[in-house]
Amino acid sequence: MSKVFIALSVSVDGYITGRDPGAGRGLGDGTMLFDWFFDGDTPSQVFDGFHLSEPSARVLDAVAGRVGASLAGRNTYDYSGWVHGGTPHPTAPLIVLSNRPVPGMSDDRQTLVTTGIEDAVAVAREAAGDKDVALMGGGVATAALAAGLVDEVILHQVPVLLGGGRPYFQSLPAHVRLRLVEAVPAPGVTHLHYEVVR
Ligand SMILES: NC(=O)c1ccc[n+]([C@@H]2O[C@H](COP(=O)([O-])OP(=O)(O)OC[C@H]3O[C@@H](n4cnc5c(N)ncnc54)[C@H](OP(=O)(O)O)[C@@H]3O)[C@@H](O)[C@H]2O)c1
Repeated sequence: MSKVFIALSVSVDGYITGRDPGAGRGLGDGTMLFDWFFDGDTPSQVFDGFHLSEPSARVLDAVAGRVGASLAGRNTYDYSGWVHGGTPHPTAPLIVLSNRPVPGMSDDRQTLVTTGIEDAVAVAREAAGDKDVALMGGGVATAALAAGLVDEVILHQVPVLLGGGRPYFQSLPAHVRLRLVEAVPAPGVTHLHYEVVR
């Protein structure tokens, strides 16, 4: 069965954006969270235009190679420009979780789910086939963790305290125990890969 994982760039104080993110404003004042995509000389084999350090390219491409479907929260969808079409991953379809309709959604690589996280993960698993589902957004990550639907959590941890922004993890109804699978230090980022203990 395909796995469900979250892999986000995050500050040491736990933010996946800086202050004031939004449509047309990307990560707000937290754009340095994505600097590691472009601060090396090893091209990604998956994402055109990304040039990373060698260890980061290895980690990113391994994670991206697992993705059969992306599942994004409505904020990520609206703020990252997918509302105008396209997908975050070059080959994987995009599932969007929202409580509201998306007017004019016309890209056939995108599917809207408005009936909750369980249904969204089920639709994403179906779309992913033998591959895995990657969650995008702190709200969706937390909803999936609260529902016990997450197998792995990956932090691409950037050495900055942003002091504000959207949190990777929001309030959860119970503890979620994690086991460290791998820690890869790299220039400008440390890749921390955890498995959810069940
Ligand atoms: N640092 C990184 O690697 C990274 C990666 C991805 C995204 N981001 C950034 O993260 C920010 C967005 O994160 P976020 O935490 O604010 O939001 P998010 O998870 O992208 O979206 C949250 C929204 O999704 C919908 N949603 C979530 N759970 C739901 C549920 N159980 N049922 C129905 N709808 C549900 C709701 O939308 P409605 O109620 O409004 O319909 C909710 O307000 C963006 O700025 C994006 O650029 C950063």
